[in-house]
Amino acid sequence: MNIKGNTILITGGTSGIGLAFAEEFIKEGNQVIITGRRADRLEEISKRLPGIITKLSDVVDAAQRTELADWVKQNHPETNILINNAGVQLVVDLKTPLDLDRIAPEIETNFIAPVHLGSLFVPILGENANATIMNVTSGLAFVPIALMPIYCATKAAMHSFTLSLRYQLKDIGIKVFEIAPPSVDTELGHDRRADKSQSHGGIPVSEFIAGAMDAIRNDVYEATVGMSAGLREKREAVFESMNDRIKLI
Ligand SMILES: NC(=O)c1ccc[n+]([C@@H]2O[C@H](COP(=O)([O-])OP(=O)(O)OC[C@H]3O[C@@H](n4cnc5c(N)ncnc54)[C@H](OP(=O)(O)O)[C@@H]3O)[C@@H](O)[C@H]2O)c1
Repeated sequence: MNIKGNTILITGGTSGIGLAFAEEFIKEGNQVIITGRRADRLEEISKRLPGIITKLSDVVDAAQRTELADWVKQNHPETNILINNAGVQLVVDLKTPLDLDRIAPEIETNFIAPVHLGSLFVPILGENANATIMNVTSGLAFVPIALMPIYCATKAAMHSFTLSLRYQLKDIGIKVFEIAPPSVDTELGHDRRADKSQSHGGIPVSEFIAGAMDAIRNDVYEATVGMSAGLREKREAVFESMNDRIKLI
């Protein structure tokens, strides 16, 4: 697809993959809007990246999702790409009763929000050329890490949903990408690390973005970057061996 001259809304652009996509798309000559919950981060980014548009918005709140779509329609009707990127990841012990107040926002962020936002944005994107939705899933959509069972299930659900979305939207000319990152060194899972500067061993964000941009440029609609490709290919065949090896920081 043409990666220049678009107006792109990225959910969760205050750090990691969302922020790196924003920087890359600005460099390529696109207008970029990012969202997030951290007002201080949004302010710092708008000072550092002139031209970027920021919007405080929490994807967990359905009313804020509707307000975001209304705001985009009103202020940036030329928006033609939605990147559903915002995500959270929890370690969950399945041997004890679940704390639903903790789990529900993870499901809402990773699954319900991108499904709802997609539906709200279809009428906006559909008015413009090069209309596209990109859902950021994970290599863990194909092979789960048992310690993060809800996270992996939401990503598997997003993989399935993205197939259906792509199938339904092809008739109205909206392209649908799935971007499945491997382990990437971002703030994901920071809350469970004593030393927040500690890496979880993923690849550098710049390396991931280079692979993802290559796939986007070449219309690879299911973009499995790095080791995600191997996970997609082998699926459950590597589940036991992968989980036996995993030690989370
Ligand atoms: N890093 C990896 O190894 C990896 C691997 C596979 C897939 N992914 C996926 O990549 C995506 C980006 O994650 P990342 O690795 O870049 O992690 P990150 O650095 O923690 O970034 C997560 C982003 O999501 C935003 N976010 C979280 N909850 C939100 C909410 N309720 N409303 C709005 N924004 C929210 C955060 O912004 P605020 O905190 O400001 O709200 C932040 O900008 C996620 O979908 C993740 O599952 C990551």
